[in-house]
Amino acid sequence: MIETERLLIRPWRDEDREPFWTMACDQRVMEYLPPLTRAESNSGIDRMMALQAEHGHVFWALERKAEGDFIGFCGIMPPRSPIFEHEIGWRLAHHAWGQGFAREAAEASLAWAWANVSVPAIMAITNLANTRSWGLMERLGMVRCLDEDFDHPDLPVGDPLRPHILYRIHRPHQAAT
Ligand SMILES: CC(C)(COP(=O)(O)OP(=O)(O)OC[C@H]1O[C@@H](n2cnc3c(N)ncnc32)[C@H](O)[C@@H]1OP(=O)(O)O)[C@@H](O)C(=O)NCCC(=O)NCCS
Repeated sequence: MIETERLLIRPWRDEDREPFWTMACDQRVMEYLPPLTRAESNSGIDRMMALQAEHGHVFWALERKAEGDFIGFCGIMPPRSPIFEHEIGWRLAHHAWGQGFAREAAEASLAWAWANVSVPAIMAITNLANTRSWGLMERLGMVRCLDEDFDHPDLPVGDPLRPHILYRIHRPHQAAT
């Protein structure tokens, strides 16, 4: 569990299934993401729970401290396959956009990763059209790797969401003591 000024960044719970499905039904949230069935929404949470148990980190659930409600996810995904590295990612309920919650959660997730995971860098991926997502990457100090655009292997050939861009941030240098 990570605590920030306004958020709890925590492992997933069964109570998150309903609000996560509500997000999956919101076309504004899913504009640049492949659609999910109810079963896929639930199996996605099952997978997050399993990865948390196996690795100790994943795209975690976000809860507002003041309201105690689930507003989405943000965190560090272990490498999904040999072509992926440790990856930061996010998805917020639409009502929680535009308030700095994603940035707050992402900055805390990166700080957690530098302290707890022995990796030199963390990547993030999105579509070029998803300006809110890569805007956040840039606010975090991530840099686009222009020669690393790729087609997402989980999406079918011809799907307009398939072409992806990649950003990366390197572990900050430790100040000399
Ligand atoms: C991508 C996503 C997480 C970005 O969320 P966001 O709320 O825009 O991002 P931030 O947390 O950085 O918030 C920035 C905004 O909050 C505003 N803000 C308000 N209070 C703030 C505060 N205390 N601190 C920082 N920013 C604040 C900023 O001015 C900025 O406003 P703007 O959108 O008008 O420019 C969100 O759009 C989302 O969930 N999208 C759908 C899912 C998705 O596409 N995920 C990525 C797949 S690759």
